Amino acid sequence: MIAVTKEERARELYDLIRACRMCALAETRTRAVPGEGPLDADVMFIGEAPGMHEDQQGRPFVGAAGQFLTELLAEAGLRRDEVYICNVLKCRPPGNRDPLPGEIAACAEYLDLQIDLVDPLVIVTLGRFSMARWFPQAAISRIHGRPATVDGRVIVPMYHPAAALRQANLREVMVEDFRRLAEVIARARSGATAAVERVRWSDDTQKTHSAAPAEEAVQGPPIEDASISGAAGDPGTGPQQIPLFE
Ligand code: URA
Repeated sequence: MIAVTKEERARELYDLIRACRMCALAETRTRAVPGEGPLDADVMFIGEAPGMHEDQQGRPFVGAAGQFLTELLAEAGLRRDEVYICNVLKCRPPGNRDPLPGEIAACAEYLDLQIDLVDPLVIVTLGRFSMARWFPQAAISRIHGRPATVDGRVIVPMYHPAAALRQANLREVMVEDFRRLAEVIARARSGATAAVERVRWSDDTQKTHSAAPAEEAVQGPPIEDASISGAAGDPGTGPQQIPLFE
């Protein structure tokens, strides 16, 4: 039967993910974690990979990082049940190690299909692995909390909630970033995309700013004059203009 509704397409996709054997994580997972949330959500959050609790329950962000994420959502005026939440990897890496490039590649199409299906106005990346999908060359300490428009969609890179659980000084940074997210979402919902700023993350600025304290990066210098190399959609042929919200 040809799936026609979003719900049917989602069910097919989730079934595919749960049966997936495209990489070795299939051998060690308890359950795959496709993702969850309304299929018409305006905002999609993309984390890294399931941890132990997610692996046991088959749901994303249900452990300590998930609890903190729910608090952060409230700072942005969002309830968990109104956003879509998923991960770059759908299966837990043993011992919660970093995802391997081959695992990310094996899972990439599932994430593509989820983004196509939900078609959110705003995507919030949580941590460097989901950020790297759009900004492979960027330093998270430099660009966290700063919305950029890539291929017509607003992408907001954020630190991973688990990072703030490990590093107390990131907690306030994340709370601030999520408070500002409310405005970003409101603007996206109203269709406003204000000023176009020129953004370049050169290797030099990355090094400079990745070494800077996170608070400084947040308040950091205006981003008029940075350079972006390696953003998704960037053919690598030079500077790219990324429209940002004011
Ligand atoms: N960390 C993630 O990146 N994803 C989860 O689902 C849980 C913890």
